[in-house]
Amino acid sequence: MGTVRHFRVWRGDESGGQLEDFQVEVNEGEVVLDIIHRLQATQTPDLAVRWNCKAGKCGSCSMEINGKPRLGCMTRMSTFGEGETVTVTPVRTFPIIRDLVTDVSFNYQKARELPAFEPPKDLQPGEYRMQQIDVERSQEFRKCIECFLCQNVCHVIRDHEENKPTFSGPRFFIRAAELDMHPLDERENRKEMAQQEQGLGYCNITKCCTEVCPEHIKITDNAIIPMKERVVDRKYDPIVWLGRKIFRRDQLDEPAVSTPHRAPAMSGASVSGGEEAAAAGTQASTTTNWHHTPAAPQAAPVGEDGKLNLTELTSDRAAAQSPFGDDVTFPLPTENLSYQHPREEKPKHDEH
Ligand code: SF4
Ligand code: SF4
Ligand code: FES
Repeated sequence: MGTVRHFRVWRGDESGGQLEDFQVEVNEGEVVLDIIHRLQATQTPDLAVRWNCKAGKCGSCSMEINGKPRLGCMTRMSTFGEGETVTVTPVRTFPIIRDLVTDVSFNYQKARELPAFEPPKDLQPGEYRMQQIDVERSQEFRKCIECFLCQNVCHVIRDHEENKPTFSGPRFFIRAAELDMHPLDERENRKEMAQQEQGLGYCNITKCCTEVCPEHIKITDNAIIPMKERVVDRKYDPIVWLGRKIFRRDQLDEPAVSTPHRAPAMSGASVSGGEEAAAAGTQASTTTNWHHTPAAPQAAPVGEDGKLNLTELTSDRAAAQSPFGDDVTFPLPTENLSYQHPREEKPKHDEH
């Protein structure tokens, strides 16, 4: 039996609501989401909360706990003082649906407005090659779990509904920065787009977004500031400035910023980050020369009944075998990597 603690939880919907008080049991090792679940199980079965993984990876359980935007499943009760009241409210920047659940579709709309990764037109599937240093540079941004806590805390939209149409927010600045750093992304106007269409100029680098990111992504230092610097570099580069004085705009090969809003991310035309990575991974595992002597991909082990083994129970290592072979540790030594760019293959009919 644990201790009994005082919880205040916001209940209501778009028409209004109030904080309700609860006395609830708390046990050692529990997180705030556990307590919300206990409330649902014992006192208020209709309390609405969004969650999925309870492991800090799905980004669903964003809420404000004692005024701070946090993940409910990653906030330990032991971080609060013995007699401290714990107040749980929904994130403030998005419209309320009910209780702790908000409508975060603003973020999906902004995601759709960002042009997807655009590889060189002639590059065939399986021919993607990147230097490890380029992979590492953008790896940080790919850790984003889309919890939208950074979006929630950003003062540009937190109390300014009117800024939403012209401001994409920190989550999408890191996506733009990631694509801008991608050596195979053909789109050269991401910086200009960030400035002119995503509202990068509104950001005054308060770093609140970085402070709340549960993945510890350095949103401001590693994405926003470099993007802002590159926008400025381009604008105030003396050579570019001189070029603008001498040539007309249409004579300069400046990347035009249009609003090429893509089809919704669900359509085949636009590839979201995860799908793109999965696609690249699938291609890489079949054709990329990761080793000098590539290991043959192995199928996941199945039992006599043809079903997958419960590897986490039967194996001494978590998850399935590595398709690269079990003797490989990561990161791979550089001498085992091949960075050759794919040779252009002539069309078959040219050989005759
Ligand atoms: S640093 Fe910029 S994007 Fe981040 S919270 Fe502040 S204003 Fe918003
Ligand atoms: S950048 Fe961080 S805070 Fe923002 S959505 Fe991604 S994981 Fe959440
Ligand atoms: S439930 Fe998935 S991040 Fe909290």
